[in-house]
Amino acid sequence: MAGRNKITVVGAGNVGATAAHWIAAKELADVTLVDIVEGTPQGKSLDLAQSAPIDGFDVKLVGSNGYEETAGSDVIIITAGLPRKPGMSRDDLLNTNADIVGSVTEQCAKHSPDAFIIIVSNPLDAMAQVAFKRSGFPKNRVMGMAGVLDSARMRCFLAEALDVSVENVTAFVLGGHGDTMVPLPRYSTCAGIPIPELLDKETIDAIVDRTANGGAEIVGLLKTGSAFYAPSLGAVEMAESILKDKKKILPCAVYLEGEYGVNGLFVGVPCKLGKNGVEQIIEISLTNDERAALQKSAGAVQELIDVLGI
Ligand code: NAI
Ligand code: 2OP
Repeated sequence: MAGRNKITVVGAGNVGATAAHWIAAKELADVTLVDIVEGTPQGKSLDLAQSAPIDGFDVKLVGSNGYEETAGSDVIIITAGLPRKPGMSRDDLLNTNADIVGSVTEQCAKHSPDAFIIIVSNPLDAMAQVAFKRSGFPKNRVMGMAGVLDSARMRCFLAEALDVSVENVTAFVLGGHGDTMVPLPRYSTCAGIPIPELLDKETIDAIVDRTANGGAEIVGLLKTGSAFYAPSLGAVEMAESILKDKKKILPCAVYLEGEYGVNGLFVGVPCKLGKNGVEQIIEISLTNDERAALQKSAGAVQELIDVLGI
């Protein structure tokens, strides 16, 4: 009998600990939770393990401040990083998180050379590029989670406006994870019906705008942190599609080499995720406006990559 899958989650903060929770509740894999703060990953893992008898899930949960316990992981989800503090520029955050994500990636890759890496740390697309370079892994094994979250936000807003089940609604978001992301109503549907057939332009424009600013809306409400329930589940959906070879089409930040006219850059596009990781990048036709918006979004990611010099 094949052993259970193993997922390492690095960063035991809001997103990381909640990802561990979703993984355990789904019985998807054993989980090793790693953080730099002593006691935090151990305490959260122990607490989660003590919820197992109540819910009835059988997974092994380990908390650690080192990487030995991560060895042999099938999937690594990286959520380690700092939020922006007063006095820090965007570039300061970029460099600080690039250092954190870079060193975490190297340690994980050393202990789990065959793993798939899913990056969550921000700025997302640039951090995925850092992990790609620092791991030395092939491009099908390194990806960033943002599109699953951004499209889930759009699905949530569309379902609310249509007063239908969220299960009926699909949504399509391309581009980098920032305010230049490109929600595409034309490729979003309710029970197979294109959204522009069902909602007026004003309502759609408002939903597109709210989606692009979805992260800031939650930061504005929480004040001391950013979203974590939907982001963590987005990363877990990607891991599940890989581990169960579900071959779901999900919007992921992946390394593009000419697709959508983008070269040598991580940007969010629809991908098929299966047992080989990113198995296919799906290219769809875009209008001139949509293509220009995607180019602008890729340009914003390129600016960060230029600052990092990678
Ligand atoms: P958080 O502050 O709650 O947790 C971050 C954790 O990383 C902390 O526990 C911290 O101790 C740990 N950490 C810092 N340096 C480390 C290192 N060198 N090694 C191991 N652990 C380290 O933050 P939260 O809310 O969990 O967010 C995590 C990251 O995910 C942030 O960069 C955030 O912006 C990003 N994020 C990205 C989203 C996306 O859609 N891609 C959505 C939500 C958050
Ligand atoms: C979000 O979109 C902060 O990137 C994070 O919620």
